Amino acid sequence: MSVPLSDYLQGCRAEIESMLATVLPSPPDCFPPLADAMQYSLLAGGKRLRPILCLASAEAVGGDRTLARPAACAIELIHTYSLVHDDLPAMDDDTMRRGRPTLHVVAGEGMAILAGDGLLTEAFGVLAREPASSDPMVVARKLRVIGVVSGAAGVAGMVGGQAIDLAAVGTSAAAASRLDTPEALQAMHARKTGALIRAAAVAGAIMGGGPEDAIEAVDAAATEFGLAFQIVDDILDVEGASEDLGKTAGKDAAAGKPTYPALYGIDRSRQLAVECLDRAEAALGRVSLGGTRLLEIGRWIITRTN
Ligand code: IPE
Ligand code: IPE
Ligand code: MG
Ligand code: MG
Ligand code: MG
Repeated sequence: MSVPLSDYLQGCRAEIESMLATVLPSPPDCFPPLADAMQYSLLAGGKRLRPILCLASAEAVGGDRTLARPAACAIELIHTYSLVHDDLPAMDDDTMRRGRPTLHVVAGEGMAILAGDGLLTEAFGVLAREPASSDPMVVARKLRVIGVVSGAAGVAGMVGGQAIDLAAVGTSAAAASRLDTPEALQAMHARKTGALIRAAAVAGAIMGGGPEDAIEAVDAAATEFGLAFQIVDDILDVEGASEDLGKTAGKDAAAGKPTYPALYGIDRSRQLAVECLDRAEAALGRVSLGGTRLLEIGRWIITRTN
């Protein structure tokens, strides 16, 4: 009998939190205010969905999740950097994140930008160094994961999606309306949020030594999880309370953001998220991974309240 999902998530979180607490350079290697700024955002809670998905994917393909732990942490560093920059006045201009004032509010914009830069760069250091092994098989997996993560974090992935998001707001109704088609909105979500979630799962499956068909199935399922995740993020911005979300609710509509609820309404958006999960289930089922934790994590993604 396996443990309930909540216990499983807690176990993964504990494992991730303890590595995150020691993964960043500290003084004297790092200038103290910069170290403080990075820690402030990284160690502020957060669901740790991406690292959990990474560990769970390694296990789902029959691998050892400790091999995936450094990649899991590296992806959380990248995710945290994306949040710090997403909240900047030049982007979403948010003052609350993970239940605290945003980093630029407490440390200034310049230090927030640099902390983001630091988190991103350190992430690739972690990916290159760990797990420390001269086993050619581990080295080959690490190299492949570096390619996957850089692709997902970069211009074809998260950074590109954020650029599309940025270009759609603030300037003109014409700019926003460019994303008023289902295809364009889905493509933006797939990049800005989906890519890193997908990479987290794929990195786990690679580090866990999964066969290619299993890696492909995990990729297909996590692509659906990623879209579902951002659909639910958009819904929660409408329906959630700031205290539960740890960030200011209602910002998307106020900023005229292109979102699923704006295009489809809440009910249809929820239904579309469920359809993502159905497709993920089918993809996993094709390689007999339907009974793993991955699908349970997918259900959590669409039923979460923060
Ligand atoms: C928020 O991500 C930003 C998006 C990509 C929508 P999360 O909802 O995973 O944020 P944390 O990590 O739990 O704070
Ligand atoms: C952010 O999307 C995606 C990234 C940080 C890459 P949102 O702007 O919707 O995220 P929240 O709602 O501020 O967390
Ligand atoms: Mg944003
Ligand atoms: Mg935002
Ligand atoms: Mg949002």
